[in-house]
Amino acid sequence: MVNELEEKSYTEEKREKDILILAIESSCDETAAAVVRNGREVLSNIISSQIDLHTLYGGVVPEIASRKHIEKINQVIEQALSEASVSFDEIDAIAVTYGPGLVGALLVGVAEGKAISFATGIPLIGVHHIEGHICANYIEHKELEPPFVSLVVSGGHTHLVKVVDYGVYEILGRTRDDAAGEAFDKVARAIGLGYPGGPKIDKVSKEGNAEAVDFPRPKVGGSDGELDFSFSGLKSAVLNYLNSEKMAGREIVVADVAASFQKAVTDVLTEHSMSALEAYGFRKFAIAGGVASNSALRAAMKEACLERNIEFYYPSPVYCTDNAAMIGVAGYYEYIKGVRSDLTLNAIPNLRLGER
Ligand code: KG4
Ligand code: ZN
Repeated sequence: MVNELEEKSYTEEKREKDILILAIESSCDETAAAVVRNGREVLSNIISSQIDLHTLYGGVVPEIASRKHIEKINQVIEQALSEASVSFDEIDAIAVTYGPGLVGALLVGVAEGKAISFATGIPLIGVHHIEGHICANYIEHKELEPPFVSLVVSGGHTHLVKVVDYGVYEILGRTRDDAAGEAFDKVARAIGLGYPGGPKIDKVSKEGNAEAVDFPRPKVGGSDGELDFSFSGLKSAVLNYLNSEKMAGREIVVADVAASFQKAVTDVLTEHSMSALEAYGFRKFAIAGGVASNSALRAAMKEACLERNIEFYYPSPVYCTDNAAMIGVAGYYEYIKGVRSDLTLNAIPNLRLGER
């Protein structure tokens, strides 16, 4: 399935014609399509969110997600093409997320990508969702090129990654249990803020005192995993605190609990990221994923990087949460390397970064 050509640079002037990628993303609860030119320019970025639907159930219901993707996907793709003012004839490749994610949700995008590829003869490229998140940074930072360190923090993933080159990744640390976004969502539910928790905790924390409750900054033992994360203990500490306050008849100040929890997560993410940058001698750092839009995390990372004279990159919020533009960027770099998928491409719910 993989065919490497001797092509590394992405520079536009080297290419005789523009490369247009149609990207499809359906790994969780957003049905998305985008058209990306030459890997860095977003011509359209359509996102149909199912958040309102899943809010009723307090989280993503996989069966509902798959069904909604099927309903929306054609419309979202048509809109992406029409907003970019391009037709299938002009598209050089179709990039589709094939993992990791919810299997039923992924299958909708993969089947759609394969069907279009089969019907039109346009080459197909399977893209790793986390790779997409990292590549979101290339959209607004034209000067950013590997190597750099990236922290990917989303609802399903928490990874510290060495971006060695385009498409070449080394995992430096990962969560041993809950993902950072998952912890935000669970804590938000426990303090009555509802789903999706991350943005709600972010907002309410602005009114709270981050020093009010001293939640633990969980560390993972062992020299080989010191850049790993663990958030389930922190989540339990919040639940225990809520219980003990309730038992003691004390009123819970939601904004203080939210801000203190957010500070604990932010501290751990910042400390590990800075340790990784120092240990591996990198001067460039990029954050990615839904939690990367958290205002406290962005501020803490910005300050830590400034102190250490490290270039800090982060995408706009629309490119942090799930979108297809980031898949188009990742797909472009695979395309110019000569990577192609065939019609045996399948959804791989637990696909590892760097694997095909
Ligand atoms: O990247 P994403 O859209 O989907 C996955 O690939 O998982 O990330 C969604 C996660 C959710 O857990 C959501 O609560 C979290 O990102 N999130 C935030 C914020 N915005 C979204 N977490 C903290 N602060 C935010 N502002
Ligand atoms: Zn994601």
